[in-house]
Amino acid sequence: MSDSPAPVLRAERLVKTHHGEGAPAHAVRGVDLRVRRGEFVAITGPSGAGKSTLLHLLGGLQRPDSGSLWLDGECTDDYTEARWAVERRKRIGIVFQFFNLVSNLSVADNVELPALLAGVSPRRARAEREELLAELGLTGKERSMPGELSGGEQQRVALARALVNHPPLLLADEPAGSLDSKGTREVTRLLTRFHGRGQTIVLVTHDARLASAADRVISFFDGRIADDAELDGAPARGAGTSGVLELRD
Ligand SMILES: Nc1ncnc2c1ncn2[C@@H]1O[C@H](COP(=O)(O)OP(=O)(O)OP(=O)(O)O)[C@@H](O)[C@H]1O
Ligand SMILES: [Mg+2]
Repeated sequence: MSDSPAPVLRAERLVKTHHGEGAPAHAVRGVDLRVRRGEFVAITGPSGAGKSTLLHLLGGLQRPDSGSLWLDGECTDDYTEARWAVERRKRIGIVFQFFNLVSNLSVADNVELPALLAGVSPRRARAEREELLAELGLTGKERSMPGELSGGEQQRVALARALVNHPPLLLADEPAGSLDSKGTREVTRLLTRFHGRGQTIVLVTHDARLASAADRVISFFDGRIADDAELDGAPARGAGTSGVLELRD
């Protein structure tokens, strides 16, 4: 079904070690990954496994110590921070584990901001924002400030903000992390709906129900891909052997 020969995302041998106060944390220890257009991939794994670090590498928010990353077939190794910022505006929507909404901007302004930064006209940004907020059940909250919203509402605003520029790739880190089961069902329904329209999604989640909405589930353990499986039960080609994960192409 792909109209492009290149995967949306391709990573080879990504490595990232954090050097903090304590011993170095080997968060990502050699990850090979390909994500095809339209695919919905869930990444699960225990706390501290390196899931957020991997997602940050995939979105250019952190740089790998070694390894390479391609977006739509284009190598990003020489991208500057400024170039990454432009690519994120155009190509990648990111939902952070802890929302990162701008606390002194209204819900409407939080959602419109990435569109305005990308050069979309104010009228168009407003129309996109109205449509997304309606779709996410947030009509009437436009003028609220993030601090006045529940955790679930903030998470949905973060999702709207990530999607406002129609990014080919959505990276979402625990988008239902602080939600109850109703909120989790809502986020699951939303992501499923966007996926149904062709949205490519890479999602980190602890939640088995949310993961089960994906086409493919990657188990991440101790900085590595421990398992990679299509959800219909078919084992992923190459998983656990070569470490190169390339499915159905
Ligand atoms: N900025 C940092 N400085 C130092 N160590 C870090 C930093 N960020 C992450 N780490 C360490 O890297 C490892 C992986 O962290 P990461 O946040 O990627 O895990 P995670 O799988 O997302 O966990 P969780 O499920 O709790 O969100 C952990 O040992 C963590 O302590
Ligand atoms: Mg995390």
